[in-house]
Amino acid sequence: MGVEVWVLLVTVAVLALLYSKWRHSYWASRGVPTLPVTPFLGHILKSVFAAREPWKLQEEIRNKFDDARMCGFYEFFKPTLLVWDTEILKHIFVKDFDHFADRRHFDMKTVHERDLVMMEMLSVVNGAQWKSLRAIMSPAFTSGKIKSMFHLVCDKADILVKISVKQAAQNPHVNMKKIFGRFTMDTIASCAFGIESNSLMDENAEFPRKAQAFFEMSTLRLAKFIAFGVVPRLFKALRVSINPPETDFFVDVVKHTVAAREAGKTRGDFLDLLLEARDSSDNPSSKHVLRQRSLIAQSVLFIIAGYETTASLLDFSSFLLAKHKNQQQRLRDEVQQLVEEHGRLNYQGIMEAKLLEACLQETLRLYPPAVFIERYCTKAYKLPGTDLTIRPGDIVQAPIWALHHDPRHWPDPEAFIPDRFLPENKSNINSFAHMPFGMGPRNCLAMRFALMEAKVALAKLLLGAELELAPGHEEMALDSQGGLLRSKGLNIKIKPIVAE
Ligand code: HEM
Repeated sequence: MGVEVWVLLVTVAVLALLYSKWRHSYWASRGVPTLPVTPFLGHILKSVFAAREPWKLQEEIRNKFDDARMCGFYEFFKPTLLVWDTEILKHIFVKDFDHFADRRHFDMKTVHERDLVMMEMLSVVNGAQWKSLRAIMSPAFTSGKIKSMFHLVCDKADILVKISVKQAAQNPHVNMKKIFGRFTMDTIASCAFGIESNSLMDENAEFPRKAQAFFEMSTLRLAKFIAFGVVPRLFKALRVSINPPETDFFVDVVKHTVAAREAGKTRGDFLDLLLEARDSSDNPSSKHVLRQRSLIAQSVLFIIAGYETTASLLDFSSFLLAKHKNQQQRLRDEVQQLVEEHGRLNYQGIMEAKLLEACLQETLRLYPPAVFIERYCTKAYKLPGTDLTIRPGDIVQAPIWALHHDPRHWPDPEAFIPDRFLPENKSNINSFAHMPFGMGPRNCLAMRFALMEAKVALAKLLLGAELELAPGHEEMALDSQGGLLRSKGLNIKIKPIVAE
């Protein structure tokens, strides 16, 4: 190679490095601390690959930069701000929501046909489209609707207990993580679409197999997500989708169900509600908002959002109750008393069970299934109590894990103390230090449904069996992919309670 070529290469490299340095000076120039930055990549390596327990990285950062109340990051060149000051979070997520109603934006022109469905999901759309869609979908989760789903959830929970006890008779301990996943899949399929996914009865049924493959986040898939962030156009050009082929299975299932409903089979469930909303004359914009693809997208979203999160909550809570047998017995006593009062486990009893609610909230504090949430800034915004103005396009994240484990908000933060959430103690809680379902107008749409489902499953399980830690499974091994926290596999000893 001639000297001129070398000079040219070195000049380009130096200019590229200077450009990277300039882009990565965004936070420093605004007085916001950051961790050391890798040229071009920003902090992507640290947050995705380097941290052994990525969810704990939030705590390390908070401890390091505590006084600053926030820390800046770069996803390649994209500025992201992690904020743990609960007063500022209150403004971002609630008071000044009009600046932060969006989640991160994707360039629709760059995505593969398979991903178009995903881009129409409520959790992904933004602006006026999100607002109309949220208004259309919210009625699916009113108290009345949730109550009407109660018996369907009970049916599935009975099978859950039966299968767990049956497996316990054949094995020294049972893989509850798998069983809970099959339970939440059956429940959401039944409650939302009237589909029998048969996951509990037949582990090898197509539905659970596809679901498992869909949620498997292989290194290749993770790498694809990251590459999509850098060169989205390349994906379209090469006709590569960021979603696995199993997506098509769920889309097909929903398409067939929608077609059957349109042919006249109604059931009063979520899908009917969406179809009604679409056809409603008092809401002319619904027809436009709920085009066919959007209808399918919302249905597939329910399967995705409802499956793993709730299964993890059950997984984590059974582990904690197996570990803390005194709390387990206290909870069983509460549930048994409600059964005696009401004659059976009914909706009212489940809603009244204060310790049951407290145990689940404490589980969600210790092990939040979503370890962070984020918002996308749409209008320049000066953070209250600071001199910092963030620009449209910047992303703000709330570190749920770090907030839930912060000793300033939670005395003895690593201990399982359900009583923190009993009604008489609730006034001690800073609600922005406990947000497992997110916060503000864009929080989890189905929070009350998810809690009802988990309560029914846990209550029935405790009535039917005693939970004990299995030898070698005394500690919970955690894993997180794409911001979702899960156990690596929970094995529990199930000792059936024989009725006297
Ligand atoms: C324990 C179970 C669950 C947990 C911990 C959970 C947690 C969350 C979190 C943290 C968010 C983001 C909220 C925010 O950004 O402020 C969210 C959003 C959402 N969740 Fe859940 N979720 C659970 C169960 C469910 C279930 C069962 C469904 C549906 C059947 C569901 C549907 C949704 C939807 C549609 C959104 C997007 C809302 C929007 O963008 O307007 N979730 N969830």
